[in-house]
Amino acid sequence: MSHSIDLAALPADFVWGVATSAYQIEGAVAEGGRAPSIWDTFCRVPGKIDNGDTGDVACDHYHRWPEDVALMKELGVTSYRFSVAWPRVVPDGRGPVNREGLDFYSRLVDALLEAGIAPNLTLYHWDLPQALQDRGGWPARETAERFADYAAVVAGALGDRVGRWVTINEPLCCAWIGHLEGRMAPGLTDIGAAVRASYHLLLGHGLAVQAVRAAAPDAEIGIVNNLSPVEPASGSLADVAAARRMDGHTNRWWLDPVHGRGFPEDMREVYGVDLPERPGDLDVIAQPLDWLGLNYYFPAVVADDPEGPHPFARQIRRPGVPRTAMDWEVDADGLETLLVRLTKEYGAAKIYVTENGSAYQDTVAPDGSVDDPERVTYLTHHLAACARAVRRGAPVAGYYAWSLLDNFEWSYGYDKRFGLVHVDYATQRRTVKTSGLRYAAVIREHRGA
Ligand code: IFM
Repeated sequence: MSHSIDLAALPADFVWGVATSAYQIEGAVAEGGRAPSIWDTFCRVPGKIDNGDTGDVACDHYHRWPEDVALMKELGVTSYRFSVAWPRVVPDGRGPVNREGLDFYSRLVDALLEAGIAPNLTLYHWDLPQALQDRGGWPARETAERFADYAAVVAGALGDRVGRWVTINEPLCCAWIGHLEGRMAPGLTDIGAAVRASYHLLLGHGLAVQAVRAAAPDAEIGIVNNLSPVEPASGSLADVAAARRMDGHTNRWWLDPVHGRGFPEDMREVYGVDLPERPGDLDVIAQPLDWLGLNYYFPAVVADDPEGPHPFARQIRRPGVPRTAMDWEVDADGLETLLVRLTKEYGAAKIYVTENGSAYQDTVAPDGSVDDPERVTYLTHHLAACARAVRRGAPVAGYYAWSLLDNFEWSYGYDKRFGLVHVDYATQRRTVKTSGLRYAAVIREHRGA
């Protein structure tokens, strides 16, 4: 097979994964004792989701999971990153545990192990129980504390079989997009709420690390951040300062506290919001981790924007740079840059690329096949970037393609397809795309070598 990925650079035990999240694929929102999450609520706000789509049915994975595990086995992946829906397990966010919810994930984990696929479990991928939102949501400290209780429940039930754990997926999206930009649940546009949410998300992360470790001492735990390399649009002092602010907003705000460096002072000033700090919190947030998760999609090139929202920096469009259907720039070098930065600047000992992928307008051919050459190229170039980063010393232990399946892409609904496997939402028929076949071939080649 001809491609430009230096597979020999990757360790022999490199993890080849695919990723999904609960609300994006499960459906069955009112089954098995699940209570509403903030996303069930947000999807009902007129105009928030393209086409008025919801996660009510999604990929019907709640009922079709055996088929999905079989698909993963067919692709030859060695790990599956999925998330547990908090409102399935602790429907009110606190109090009684729903055994039926835990049993669902327990069966899934057993089937994965049976198929030789290592589970990688994310505790929070944005579906906060609505009952907790009603009590203040992430801007309230109680949510971080209840998150730790829920983490203890899940680790107690699954910690004997799940080795790899993620506390929180992309806290940036919850805090900034959900509480400042209003484009994700719970849909607020309030810098004070956003900063407090960011603080409690990281506090919840630290508390959950402690809870998982107490219940499952062998668990390998990490946090997953979506990061972007940031460059100024020009050499002007204003743009350079804007890039520094955007780097703080996107990267340092999430990395520094977890690495024991506290919250960046320059960004505290930019936000102008008092943090709800209590003695000891920073130590909780900086629990030692077994690995860092990096979700990478696009770089940011920014200009000063004094009148805009925090952090007063605006992303510009670079002419001639290819873009995905999300209108995100395609730049595989950015992945290499971030992997090397996590290694050099933050001393990462182990990194997983926990998400990376692309949306394109796929078409189904009359024979039912789905040929997606742009996604094949995207995948190849980003895997090549991982291998280059490894050659430069980055301890990259695995790669999870986003996503196994086309799924509910949040405020974009079902129009944006990221899957290696196409889903026909009318019939729920799954078809492996050319990119899925290519991924399987790369895995075979690496594992055979
Ligand atoms: O679909 C999302 C996922 O839930 C989190 N990371 C980015 C993906 C693509 O937008």
